[in-house]
Amino acid sequence: MSAPILLIGAGRMGAALARGWIEDGRGPDITAIEPRPEAGFARALRKAGGRLNPKAASIGTPQAVVLAVKPQMLEDVARDAARFVGKPVFISIAAGIALKKLGGWLGERAAIVRAMPNLPAAIGQGATVAAANTRVTRPQKALAGALLAAAGALEWLNDETPIDAVTAVSGSGPAYVFLLVEALAAAGVGAGLKPDLAMRLAHSTVAGAGGLLAAWPDRPAETLRRDVTSPGGTTEAALKVLMGTGGMTPLLAKAVKAAVKRAKALGA
Ligand SMILES: NC(=O)c1ccc[n+]([C@@H]2O[C@H](COP(=O)([O-])OP(=O)(O)OC[C@H]3O[C@@H](n4cnc5c(N)ncnc54)[C@H](OP(=O)(O)O)[C@@H]3O)[C@@H](O)[C@H]2O)c1
Repeated sequence: MSAPILLIGAGRMGAALARGWIEDGRGPDITAIEPRPEAGFARALRKAGGRLNPKAASIGTPQAVVLAVKPQMLEDVARDAARFVGKPVFISIAAGIALKKLGGWLGERAAIVRAMPNLPAAIGQGATVAAANTRVTRPQKALAGALLAAAGALEWLNDETPIDAVTAVSGSGPAYVFLLVEALAAAGVGAGLKPDLAMRLAHSTVAGAGGLLAAWPDRPAETLRRDVTSPGGTTEAALKVLMGTGGMTPLLAKAVKAAVKRAKALGA
């Protein structure tokens, strides 16, 4: 289904989403507004027939407006995009900004979807959760769903309340995993490895473990962890530390709580 898409903000997440649309053959439908486009993205968009920063008068009326700027910039961008209200479905991916607040900026007639994707969207392996306001029609929800599903798995919620927690778990989650790579490499150096070897090992270990999770979706992480852990072995010795008091579980709980708090503050 061809539908003109206006992407406002093509930074890390906006460009990641647009890459999925291009792969779905929607390139000619995309108009992106981005003050500092990354060269690779600009090339890919133009090659796919999309438009980057055209004159405002030539934008036309989109069927979907994707708001992918930082939460702090969103009010200005949304108030400006309010001129399109009527035809398009607005999709905001901003952390912490509730549908009601978006409606206050875009106008009460605006059909809005609030979504929380994550960075693996860039390779079609994202996890997105979305909720729609009551103005969103069935075809608009279908279009929003198609655009968000181009990034990977998509789940709809009837109520947006859990989205701050989703943001803290899957939206921010890739950063926790990247930190794990850094921390594992640093620990390897502490154990006597050369820094470059430690980083290569940490990098491929986390990527490989993630690959296993993706390749074996029916095997729970706990089962995979037990598979690597022989009784009395080296992994068990390490896990006793990681799973002990003040270990990974309470630490991540604390980190996620801090992210939820920040999401709520961004939306206040
Ligand atoms: N990154 C993630 O993993 C992730 C995950 C889930 C959700 N999100 C959400 O996605 C949104 C974007 O995050 P991001 O990480 O992609 O940020 P980002 O890389 O900073 O991208 C935002 C882009 O929007 C541009 N921009 C600013 N004002 C604009 C305007 N008036 N019109 C058009 N473009 C404008 C920015 O340009 P300048 O840099 O010149 O200001 C920047 O390139 C945020 O609301 C965030 O909460 C991000």
